[in-house]
Amino acid sequence: MAYNVAVLVGSLRKESFNRKIANALIKSAPASLKGEIVEIGALPFYNQDLDEGGQPPEAWTAFRQRMKTADAFLFVTPEYNRSVPAVLKNALDVGSRPYGQSIWDGKPGAVVSASPGAIGGFGANHHLRQSLVFLNVPTMQQPEAYIGGVNKLLDASGDPADDNTRKFLSTIITAFAAWVETNHRR
Ligand code: FNR
Repeated sequence: MAYNVAVLVGSLRKESFNRKIANALIKSAPASLKGEIVEIGALPFYNQDLDEGGQPPEAWTAFRQRMKTADAFLFVTPEYNRSVPAVLKNALDVGSRPYGQSIWDGKPGAVVSASPGAIGGFGANHHLRQSLVFLNVPTMQQPEAYIGGVNKLLDASGDPADDNTRKFLSTIITAFAAWVETNHRR
């Protein structure tokens, strides 16, 4: 049976390059991984009062339940001001609480960042990794995926425009499949 991978995209933009990269990674995944994008754009901002008052927003509860069915996490994100976009950080925070019930704990992950800029979202990629260390998500270290110049790498339908890009995405997702196989908890 394939491992279920929850794919989180750090951009809400309709034509997001990162969403296109996420979809391309899902498409080129080996049969051992089944990836699906989990939407995070409608999660209200985390507010501890709502958990402690026992009335978390329905969207938080649905997200937490959905994420509990995942065996692994794939984060595909742009960089905003050299860091993680707020929408993705919020999803990390929502999933991490109530205290002691984190949905992240112990499940393997990988981070891919993409930007039209030359350094490929390196800052976001590594800020995200800082949180994932604390959240106890064993995160694939190699190969790294900082996709620079992403605006030139996809065709009009959002698929990789050339063989190098196709091969790179395939290398990343194949390595992630091996990482999940080694680090999953079932
Ligand atoms: C950006 N962008 C950007 N790019 C980058 O390489 N480093 C950065 O620090 C930032 N900062 C930043 C802040 C904000 C608020 C926005 C809206 C954009 C540009 C960004 O990489 C570009 O808009 C991408 O296209 C966003 O990714 P998606 O939406 O295409 O996936």
